[in-house]
Amino acid sequence: MKILYNLEELEIAKNEYKQGGIAFVPTMGALHAGHLSLINKANSVADKVIVSIFVNPLQFGPNEDFTKYPRNIDKDLALLRNKKVDYLFYPSFTKDELLKIKQVSAEPKLADILCGKFRKGHFDGVATIVNYFFELIEPNYAVFGEKDYQQLKIIEAMVNNLSLNVKILAAPILREASGLAMSSRNVYLNQSSRLKADEIYKNLNSMSEEISKILAGGIERNKKIQRIIDSYKEKFINSGFELDYLEYHWSRILIAARIDGVRLIDNMPA
Ligand code: PAF
Repeated sequence: MKILYNLEELEIAKNEYKQGGIAFVPTMGALHAGHLSLINKANSVADKVIVSIFVNPLQFGPNEDFTKYPRNIDKDLALLRNKKVDYLFYPSFTKDELLKIKQVSAEPKLADILCGKFRKGHFDGVATIVNYFFELIEPNYAVFGEKDYQQLKIIEAMVNNLSLNVKILAAPILREASGLAMSSRNVYLNQSSRLKADEIYKNLNSMSEEISKILAGGIERNKKIQRIIDSYKEKFINSGFELDYLEYHWSRILIAARIDGVRLIDNMPA
């Protein structure tokens, strides 16, 4: 695996890889098995794979965890070296530098709902860096996890709106044995909050079953789905979660909830 620290090194690598296909896996590091599954997907579609590790300051709000976001490059390198990864793009752009690149607005219809209501500007920051990396790397494919389902929808819309020449691939959520969706932020959870976090998966599972029955049943679906959502909102709140949202979109139940100050997101088809 070649590590590319800057644009010059990326340019040289591009001359090597641009003949065959290349698949791109953008990450912010703190890698776990979920990321490794994105790398497997990338390897299944292209000869060469490039991963990026970059904690993007543009997508963090002023009161968010940019400075304390988990960073562990030695562990990340060890994990990547065990996989077939041809290149690691590991740049060190500053926020000021990034404010000078083309700023992309995420599609408002998609960005103003769910996480967008609670994280103003977050998806513009994501769209801007992803578009920039697409411009620099020129990948044939890019792989995104369904764990960040709204992000996936926003990137798909961006590729479509800007007519970008990259195929977006989605990879399913990977879960711990307990059902907890894998996330770099899970390291913030202590033992008791981790146990509580497991309720997210349990509840999403039963909601999914209940909603599927309603969908099979026919009449007044929306009202009935809303009733289920409302009852689970109460359940989550009663067990001590702070709910940002619990909603049904894109035939999925999506949740963002805080446990002991740690914000987790998850989703499940229904
Ligand atoms: O999903 C992430 O880790 C980030 O939002 C991404 C896509 C790497 C952009 O910084």
